[in-house]
Amino acid sequence: MTRKLAELDWPHRTARLSLRPAVAEDGAAVWPWYRDPSVSEWLVSAAGDADQFVADYAERLPHSLVALLDGRPVATARVAVQDAWAQKEAVDRARDQEAELGWVVAPGFQGRGIGTEVAEALLAIAFDGLGVRRVIALCFADNTASRRIMERIGMRREGTYVRDSLHRSGRWLDGMSYALLAEEWHRRKP
Ligand SMILES: CC(C)(COP(=O)(O)OP(=O)(O)OC[C@H]1O[C@@H](n2cnc3c(N)ncnc32)[C@H](O)[C@@H]1OP(=O)(O)O)[C@@H](O)C(=O)NCCC(=O)NCCS
Repeated sequence: MTRKLAELDWPHRTARLSLRPAVAEDGAAVWPWYRDPSVSEWLVSAAGDADQFVADYAERLPHSLVALLDGRPVATARVAVQDAWAQKEAVDRARDQEAELGWVVAPGFQGRGIGTEVAEALLAIAFDGLGVRRVIALCFADNTASRRIMERIGMRREGTYVRDSLHRSGRWLDGMSYALLAEEWHRRKP
């Protein structure tokens, strides 16, 4: 049975970071990161104004985490449990079997391995904590930093989609999907 993020033991600690479920107050603190063009460039939606962002962020709380470095928020993450694809007769058995992962590192803290450390933690949270059988992550092919994270944490590139994704700039970009199965992750754990 898959668990919910709120049911896990928190905080989740890594070598440098402490991850916890996001709370509504985090929205205002992370808005400046999301409105930075280098961040919003790759995200599903632009940050908008502060009030709108805080309201949108509040709706995403059930699958949002914040990573702290020395007590200060430096990254946000997403672990969204979803149903796996299944034939109609098997739909009930495919419920909550997957988690989609995502990450944003504060612009001033990028390039120090924090994104990779957060992503590694998300694998442990998704597989050991929630008990999903597969994780996926999606990105624009041009998002080199995010792709490198997926590859570094051992996710497999499973799809490259040619000019399938319309960027808000009006360009049709290539998309990519990565995935990892629980059994693969457990096999490679020390
Ligand atoms: C993607 C992101 C989370 C990476 O965070 P990070 O803390 O800088 O990641 P790391 O320091 O662990 O570095 C990961 C790799 O990306 C590289 N990298 C970091 N910033 C980069 C950049 N701006 N451009 C290209 N490569 C970059 C690092 O050098 C490292 O590469 P390497 O494997 O060749 O050594 C961060 O850039 C970010 O928040 N981007 C905007 C939001 C986003 O794209 N989220 C993902 C949507 S799919």
